[in-house]
Amino acid sequence: MRKGIFIIAIMLMSISIMGQQQERNISIIPEPVSLLKKGGHFVLPDEVVISTPFAQGTYINSLLVEKLSTAPAKEVKLSSSAANAHIELLLNKITDKEIGREGYRLDVTPQKVVIKANEPAGLLYGVQTFFQLLPPQIESDKKKENVSWQIPVVEITDYPRVEWRGLMLDVSRHFFTVDEVKQFIDNMVRYKYNIFHWHLTDDEGWRIEIKSLPKLTQVGAWRTEQIGWFGSLSDPDPDAPKNYGGFYTQDEIGEVIAYAMERNVQVMPEIDVPGHSSAALAAYPELACFPESGDHFVRTGAPFLDWNTGGRPAAIYENTLCPANENVYEFMDKVITEVAALFPFEYIHTGGDEAPYTFWEKSPDIKKLMAREGIKDMAGVQSYFGKRVEQIILSKGKKMMGWDEILEGGITPTTALMSWRGIEHGIEASNSGHYVVMSPTNYVYIDYMQGDLSTEPRVYSSLRLNQTYQFDPIPEGANAKYILGGQANLWTEQIYNIRQVEYMVWPRGFAVAESLWSPKEKKDWNRFASKAEDHFARFDYARIKYSPAIYDPIVKVAKEGEKLMVTLTTEIEGLDIYASFDASTPDNFYPVYKEPLQVPKDAYVMRIITYRDGKPVGRLMSISAEELMKRAR
Ligand code: ACM
Repeated sequence: MRKGIFIIAIMLMSISIMGQQQERNISIIPEPVSLLKKGGHFVLPDEVVISTPFAQGTYINSLLVEKLSTAPAKEVKLSSSAANAHIELLLNKITDKEIGREGYRLDVTPQKVVIKANEPAGLLYGVQTFFQLLPPQIESDKKKENVSWQIPVVEITDYPRVEWRGLMLDVSRHFFTVDEVKQFIDNMVRYKYNIFHWHLTDDEGWRIEIKSLPKLTQVGAWRTEQIGWFGSLSDPDPDAPKNYGGFYTQDEIGEVIAYAMERNVQVMPEIDVPGHSSAALAAYPELACFPESGDHFVRTGAPFLDWNTGGRPAAIYENTLCPANENVYEFMDKVITEVAALFPFEYIHTGGDEAPYTFWEKSPDIKKLMAREGIKDMAGVQSYFGKRVEQIILSKGKKMMGWDEILEGGITPTTALMSWRGIEHGIEASNSGHYVVMSPTNYVYIDYMQGDLSTEPRVYSSLRLNQTYQFDPIPEGANAKYILGGQANLWTEQIYNIRQVEYMVWPRGFAVAESLWSPKEKKDWNRFASKAEDHFARFDYARIKYSPAIYDPIVKVAKEGEKLMVTLTTEIEGLDIYASFDASTPDNFYPVYKEPLQVPKDAYVMRIITYRDGKPVGRLMSISAEELMKRAR
């Protein structure tokens, strides 16, 4: 009997040691400003009482009730009194200067969780951090058994580094429904993003109802469906049905804005002019310099711009509004009037990127405009257009933002800039007193491939997670006073559905969030990569897709004399790489990769896979010898 008790005691001890060993890492993304771990735990009871300053039905209340009752708790009660509360949300009576409008303090004791903030936005972010302290099963919408619903005793003080923390979604190249857009916004909120930049118009579709210009959506929202590699599709058959696309009614836009604002997300509309306007011209060809050409239709992804110019693209087909045409300003006035009335956000983005000069240069009307206004060149023509559009925007009580090309012909002091062709234009603009959002291709263009071409839909460039993580929204040389913040952009030429949207955003969206929110000195790649993996487990429960490209090796090929050499590295630590040239599928019984491999003369394919702790974690990559040779050039 005594022996039995002894064995039971040993078993209990080992279970408790196992429990300690299995203690989860604290993995908060973005990393808080300060986090003090104090020892001990708060355990979520079966019946949770939440004290809240908000009325019944308010978003934060509903979110807490939904999350806690679909996962751990049998019952969740809201109360206006702090007595008996397990979770207490407090709006400060006296402003806590350190944490500002969006910051919060989160104190966990063994008895309760207290979240304090100056504004509801701060409480929302405190609640997000609280969820991230809970086990990943909190993300499931089904009750999970055998989960220990405990969180460590911590004291967190947190607030953002920059105020503009944006994500852009292009809904023109492919259309996403209202529900999908809401889903996109919900995921932004998890990582404390607060600006949703809605790219609503482009060559491939006009997506916003403008009541005074009904053809924009009757004609401009619909095109022929084609699937393949965008930019190299075959020319669409003129008789093929134009039934692919869609648009948002103004009611739907209002619904999305309200949904976002409840979540502390402001929505910035983009109407991309004077370039990227094929869809508008399909509806109203009279806005082109050459209305009679018959070439104005909603583009599908077949070539219509020539990118091999070394600079601004040249147009094969006219896709620009004609700045010499007074009807264009009437059109812009109608569009901006309705957009300004619909969107409460202070900025309207009017694009300005990649406007080809090709058709302007051929236009007698543009020549007359230049003579009349004393304009020297095509950059001046675009600048003339931009300034007139800005006057319209200002007259509706809004401010204008544009892509960095608008700097070229000169802008007014009140125009704000989104720096996308690197950071230099943003640095320059900030030093001349323009407000700037940093959104450079080389760090935050999350439409680029995040892994090897052999595993990704083909895009013309790559951007690995570790490069995104190095994004600094306030780079050296910039005037910080004028840097509003930063933003990642998701262009959707090559993205056909919402699952692929998620795949492209995450985990790079984690990296951008941490770059925008956390103090620069708190950033640490190895720690971040490990946290990202913890968040993959959360996404598995939440059924959000993400890219596992961090587990795939980086393949570099070089010619050394007659030899073709392949060097393999990994973004994260602790992976073993196995490769074959004999077309078999390598596994962890193959020789582990140690040094560059020579491609055998007659090999026709290289296959590569990574393992961790004896289990495959990377995807099987197969790269033909021909492709390896091409990469070496
Ligand atoms: C852009 O990527 N064309 C702004």
